[in-house]
Amino acid sequence: MGREIIQIKDLKVHYPIRSGFWNRITDYVRAVDGVNFSINEGETYGLIGESGSGKSTTGKAIVGIEKVTSGQILYKGVDITKASNRKKLNYNKDVQMIFQDSMSSLNPRKRIEDIIAEPIRNFENLTTDEERKRVQELLDIVGMPSDAIYKYPHEFSGGQRQRIGVARAVATRPKLIVADEPTSALDLSVQAQVLNFMKNIQQQYGIAYLFISHDLGVVKHMSENLAIMHRGRLVEIGTREEIYNNPMHIYTKRLLASIPQVDVDHREENKKHRLEVEREFLDNQSRWYDKDGRVFPLQRVTPTHYVALPSDLISKMEEGE
Ligand SMILES: Nc1ncnc2c1ncn2[C@@H]1O[C@H](COP(=O)(O)OP(=O)(O)OP(=O)(O)O)[C@@H](O)[C@H]1O
Ligand SMILES: [Mg+2]
Repeated sequence: MGREIIQIKDLKVHYPIRSGFWNRITDYVRAVDGVNFSINEGETYGLIGESGSGKSTTGKAIVGIEKVTSGQILYKGVDITKASNRKKLNYNKDVQMIFQDSMSSLNPRKRIEDIIAEPIRNFENLTTDEERKRVQELLDIVGMPSDAIYKYPHEFSGGQRQRIGVARAVATRPKLIVADEPTSALDLSVQAQVLNFMKNIQQQYGIAYLFISHDLGVVKHMSENLAIMHRGRLVEIGTREEIYNNPMHIYTKRLLASIPQVDVDHREENKKHRLEVEREFLDNQSRWYDKDGRVFPLQRVTPTHYVALPSDLISKMEEGE
C-alpha cells in the first residue's frame, strides 16, 4: 500500500468553441485546466465538485475516451498519452470505467452475458465454456443470479444494472476503476448497497477507485484521499481527515455545508452555518479567485494537504487557528 498507481500531471482538456459563418474556433471551454493528483494502489480516491466542474472530463481523459489537450498521465511510470499501442492495450485492460447512467451505458440490445464478456473478448482468448464460467463468477461477485446472463438490461432495476456495470468493469481484472457518480441515480438504500459491494470487491481484488461525486457526504466513508474540483481546477487536496475536519478553501467549506443533514436536532445550527459560509464566499470573491476569476495554483500546507490560495492568506488562516 501507499505506492502510486497513477499520476496525473498538469492535465488539460480544452474543447474548441466554433462560431460564425466559417465555423472557426473562437474560444475554448477549459473543462480541465491544469489538474495534478496521484492515486495509490488499492485506495479510493474521491474527486468531488459541482456540476460542470470537469470531473467526468477528467475521468474520461484518464480512461482514454477523451482526448487530452496537454499534460501527462503516468501509469507505472509510462506517460499513457504518448505510449505505444502495445502499452496502451495493457493500460486499457488495467483501467476501466463505471458510468452514472447504467441504462445508457449498457447496450439495450445485448444480453447480459455479452455485455459482461465484451471487455474480456477484447483482451483474452477464452473458449465459450471458459467465458461463460467467468461471466457467472462475475455475476456472483456482484450478487446477481446466474440466470441473469440470458436477460437484457431493461429487465433489471437501476441498482441491479449498476451491479452489472461493475461486473463488466471488473471483468478484465483491472487495477484502477474510474467510477463516475455510480450511485447518484439510485435511491438512498440502494446507494448504500452498491457502495458496500464496491468496497468488498475492492478489498477482494485490490482495485483502486477514482470515485467521482458531487456530494462530499457520499464518499465520506469510502475515500482515503480526496481532491476538490472547481472551474476545471483543483481547489484542495487532502486526506479524509484534512478535508472533512480542516477544510481551508471556501469552496470545500461550501460543499461540506451543503451535505444533506439527517440530524434534526442540529438543523437550525446547520442552516446558520451554511449562511455564514455563503456570506464569507460572496463577500470576499477577490480572496478566492485571481483577477481573471480563476482558481489559484495549489500551495502545500502539509505533505498531504494542498489548497489553492495565495501563501499569505494561508499563513493568516493558520495563525488564526
Ligand atoms: N464534448 C464537449 N464539448 C464541449 N464542452 C464540453 C464537452 N463535454 C463537456 N463540456 C463542458 O466541459 C465542462 C465540464 O464538463 P464535465 O462533464 O466534465 O463536468 P462534471 O463535473 O462531470 O459535471 P456533472 O456533475 O454535471 O457531471 C462543462 O462546462 C461542460 O459543458
Ligand atoms: Mg459528470
